[in-house]
Amino acid sequence: MMIEQSADTRKSDLDRLRAEYADRERRLAGSDIYSPFNLAHLFMTQQRQRVTLKTLRRFGFYPLDQRRVLEVGCGRGGVLLEYLSYGATPARIHGIDLLGDRVAEARARVPSLSLSCADGQHLPYPDEVFDLVLQYTAFSSLLDDGVKANVAREMLRVLRPDGAIIWYDYWLNPTNPQARGIRPAEIRRLFPNCVYHFQRITLAPPITRRLVGLSWLLCYVLEKAVLLNTHYLVVIHKCPSKGEAR
Ligand SMILES: C[S@@+](CC[C@H](N)C(=O)[O-])C[C@H]1O[C@@H](n2cnc3c(N)ncnc32)[C@H](O)[C@@H]1O
Repeated sequence: MMIEQSADTRKSDLDRLRAEYADRERRLAGSDIYSPFNLAHLFMTQQRQRVTLKTLRRFGFYPLDQRRVLEVGCGRGGVLLEYLSYGATPARIHGIDLLGDRVAEARARVPSLSLSCADGQHLPYPDEVFDLVLQYTAFSSLLDDGVKANVAREMLRVLRPDGAIIWYDYWLNPTNPQARGIRPAEIRRLFPNCVYHFQRITLAPPITRRLVGLSWLLCYVLEKAVLLNTHYLVVIHKCPSKGEAR
């Protein structure tokens, strides 16, 4: 069931989001904060990739070449490029994003992928066609509960019964009022009647930025200690018999 809310409310949250991303674009102009040449960004990305690869294998998604993959909120295609490097087949990789300029950039980077400008509340795909449906830090930028519920419902609709949602997002983000962390209880509510496997990863970005230049090893040890980690990597299955999920 689509969550009851007025079209005006939904539109205003999507408009807020567009304005926020345009503003973020201006604030970050010239910054290398999301560049692989930035040591902190490199550390966080590589740590997430290590956990992701281990998790995909653990839940039976290795190899990836025959799997159909969709990312909701794919932005400029950075995460889809990672899945390409993990062995996913370009013709089986899809991505959608609300922002046309980001989709255009992603297309220019990786023309072989199927990328569309669309709202995650209305995914342009039939039911149960994807083995993996990804969401990487799109939900934390959605502040409207109705929009979140609608996007989650669509993700479940297009997921095959034996597939999995791979969720990577903040559970805590105290520094950005335009983003809201999402905790396990809310994830369970968004994806009801599913089986979940939660891993708390990613050393808090402000700490990583401060420490990684001094000691990569210290950041590694702190992330292993989990206490200061700000994200969850979650595997969500529709079907309880699949994988080792708890
Ligand atoms: C923080 S960015 C993350 C981009 C990408 N997942 C990554 O990790 O590089 C979040 C993305 O979600 C997109 N997004 C937010 N709400 C959306 C919606 N309702 N439908 C589609 N995309 C959405 C935004 O446009 C933005 O590009």
